[in-house]
Amino acid sequence: MSKFWSPFVKDLVPYVPGEQPKLAKLVKLNTNENPYGPSPKALAAMQAELNDNLRLYPDPNGERLKQAVADYYAVQPAQVFVGNGSDEVLAHVFQALLKHSKPILFPDITYSFYPVYCGLYDIAYETIPLNERFEIQVDDYFRPNGGIIFPNPNAPTGVPLKLTEIERLLKTNTSSVVVIDEAYVDFGTESAISLIQKYPHLLVTHTLSKARSLAGLRVGYALGHPDLIEGLLRVKDSFNSYPIDSLAAAGAIAAMQDREYFESSCKKVMATREHLVVAIQKMGFDVLPSGANFIFAKHPAWDGADLAAQLREHGIIIRHFKRPERIAPYLRITIGTDAQNQQLITVLQNLIT
Ligand SMILES: Cc1ncc(COP(=O)(O)O)c(C=O)c1O
Repeated sequence: MSKFWSPFVKDLVPYVPGEQPKLAKLVKLNTNENPYGPSPKALAAMQAELNDNLRLYPDPNGERLKQAVADYYAVQPAQVFVGNGSDEVLAHVFQALLKHSKPILFPDITYSFYPVYCGLYDIAYETIPLNERFEIQVDDYFRPNGGIIFPNPNAPTGVPLKLTEIERLLKTNTSSVVVIDEAYVDFGTESAISLIQKYPHLLVTHTLSKARSLAGLRVGYALGHPDLIEGLLRVKDSFNSYPIDSLAAAGAIAAMQDREYFESSCKKVMATREHLVVAIQKMGFDVLPSGANFIFAKHPAWDGADLAAQLREHGIIIRHFKRPERIAPYLRITIGTDAQNQQLITVLQNLIT
């Protein structure tokens, strides 16, 4: 605390990211990174970019990257916005599209950055409870609002929502923007990108951090009507002209173009997820359905915090949320390699049986 702070800073409640431990030996299943590493073509493209051109500023709007994203989804570059990780894209979304007179709506259990952005930009919000199986019920969102945002699949639960339900929401809620945060969509959830041509109030955000295994590069993007994108560009150009550096642009373009590597990496993660789900269900865990690269599970005989602490003692870190209380019994476990998965299963078997 300092008298030099702008007054609102003392009331900010910042987001707390998952731990990035210093001990290399830990099995790290706590921040939903992809265990398989980025496309070798992305690494080569970044190596090639390590040259004297770094003295120049990058393209302010990442036009080549926008084109690569547009090509991937068969949309126009004017429907694409790129930013420094989807967290930055989301920050601009909150400021550019979700700050109106009515409160915005998001689930009571969801990505914990959303209330943080609301605090930063002074946006009123209401949370809508998930049902008892942690599902989003779109009917609960049919009420006046300044915008709607949720991840699909939801985080930290991993529970997917059907595209038909998202379309029902878009048809009913036409006077405010609906943002679908698809950070984990490539691990088996239906994307809403196919709906952006039809619904000018739909914005879909994505990241290269998960399915494309480039969390360290910080690249994310949004797809939607050019008018929504223009609003985002106005905010971005009032904040940072160059959010995507030259190396990040080169790596991200190559990653978007390497469809084969991306698909095979997602497939491996999903296969490992299914193996893990079966193995821990046999131990008595209740596992929520997951369309993500993580699962959310609880054991009837264990307290969530205790089990997380025990796993850590055995060199495995997963994520445990103390709040909201309803999710305190659960562990969020990122899907690792098959070897990491086996290590986790063995440790859990020893602890639980
Ligand atoms: C639901 C959700 N959205 C967005 C992000 C942000 O991802 P990034 O800033 O790495 O693109 C995360 C990160 O964990 C997330 O869980």
